[in-house]
Amino acid sequence: MTSSTIAWLRQSLLALLCLSALCAGAAASAAPLEGTWRLDEPKPFGVTLHSYLKFEPTAAGPKGSVVANGSVELPFVDAKQVGAETVFRVSWGWTFRVRRDGANLSVVANYGGGEEPPATAVPVPESDSQPEPRLPLPPVHDVADNGLARTPPMGWNSWNHFAERVDDRTVRGAADRMVSSGMAAAGYTYINIDDTWEAGRNASGEIVPNSKFPDMAALAAYVHSKGLKLGIYSSPGPYTCGGYAGSHGHEDQDARTYAVWGIDYLKYDWCSAGRIYTLDELRPVYQRMGDALAHCGRPIVFSLCEYGMHDVWTWGPKVGGNLWRTTGDIQDNWKSMSDIGFNQGRLAPYAGPGHWNDPDMLEIGNGGMSATEYRTHFSLWCMLAAPLMAGNDLGRMSEDTREILTNRDVIAVDQDRLGREATRTLKLGDIEVWTRPLESGAVAVAIFNRGPAEAPAAFDWGQVGIGAKPRSVRDLWRHANVEAGSQYSTTVPGHGVVMLTAD
Ligand code: GLA
Repeated sequence: MTSSTIAWLRQSLLALLCLSALCAGAAASAAPLEGTWRLDEPKPFGVTLHSYLKFEPTAAGPKGSVVANGSVELPFVDAKQVGAETVFRVSWGWTFRVRRDGANLSVVANYGGGEEPPATAVPVPESDSQPEPRLPLPPVHDVADNGLARTPPMGWNSWNHFAERVDDRTVRGAADRMVSSGMAAAGYTYINIDDTWEAGRNASGEIVPNSKFPDMAALAAYVHSKGLKLGIYSSPGPYTCGGYAGSHGHEDQDARTYAVWGIDYLKYDWCSAGRIYTLDELRPVYQRMGDALAHCGRPIVFSLCEYGMHDVWTWGPKVGGNLWRTTGDIQDNWKSMSDIGFNQGRLAPYAGPGHWNDPDMLEIGNGGMSATEYRTHFSLWCMLAAPLMAGNDLGRMSEDTREILTNRDVIAVDQDRLGREATRTLKLGDIEVWTRPLESGAVAVAIFNRGPAEAPAAFDWGQVGIGAKPRSVRDLWRHANVEAGSQYSTTVPGHGVVMLTAD
């Protein structure tokens, strides 16, 4: 008998004892926290997510880990006794207030967004918390280029604003608004459903949407009727990052299902695959879905999401990837956005038609930055030839937000067919000048101010790699030509940008 089975039997025995009246009130509060406990989180749309809390008593106090949504196992970094409760913390800042409650545990989780309602964790054998077994990996080969995404994909994704609140109505609304706001005319095409759409698998193993999405094929037909395309989300692991069903072992079947529904884009998020496979195995794991999409009978953009691990930019195109995340998740604040955006320059050589670096989706319009900062966010992403996935509520967009997202002069830089990503060519204190060559022979020039206070910027064109005095210079936010001699000088607002094309 393994030690985990013994621990589970001990817990079950305790549970039985506690069912008797003798145990009432006292609730075995003296019993040490040990063993494995399943924490169920039922959702109103017919899905129950499972996490596991694992404890081992030690002389120095309880230790352990949480298997969050079956997706990632994080050790507790400390445990503090507060009255009858032990408060466990993991490195991501999450906390779990845990108390013995008769046979079970009462748990109040906080995933950074405030405390969840109290939930009950029940004792289970440790083996329940173990990841699914590995599947044989295919020999590595190059998946043929699918010919899609010759310029960076543009669209909208549900995650940044709606997260779990996305449903059929939200997606139809986003499609309607994408057209009526002028975004579709400005080039936005993809309406992408992120995590939380999945229910599980039917008896034939086919993936089934939960009750938020009653008819995926009808939804795709609706989005297509607007002249737009529909995207979806999954994971190479058995669970997505949110704890919903992933594609592990069902890659071909899922790709075929997507094709039948009329899906045009797949974001494929590493998540629970990290509990099964090593980083050295990222490529064959992603190749499984790359091959499946190549054979599913429908052109589907393949978006890799593994946060830039293992230099994905060097092998992303070889698994059929059209874009790959280069970083962890963006947040709607200046620090997160600017830390990500201004650190992308070294990846410029890896971007080009059909295969793009993805510094994550846009936060423009979500409220955490000023309009000036959002203009910088948009300019920087366009300089980086980044995919432009709006992440706001399109139905409640301010005029500022709409104007930023539909600035065609700036979008034209992002969508330039040469597909060359910008690099930083000059740094003058807080001022950074980034440039990228365009198909026409002109050069896009963005003058960023990373400091909080307005600052002057002056340079010779030669300093930013533009040899002679340009014939014409256009300001892409003022939409006007500007006079420029052999030098250019301007003033840039704090956290702001001046963006030009010089010809
Ligand atoms: C990860 C991804 C996010 C989003 C969530 C959904 O964190 O990086 O972009 O897809 O998962 O659970």
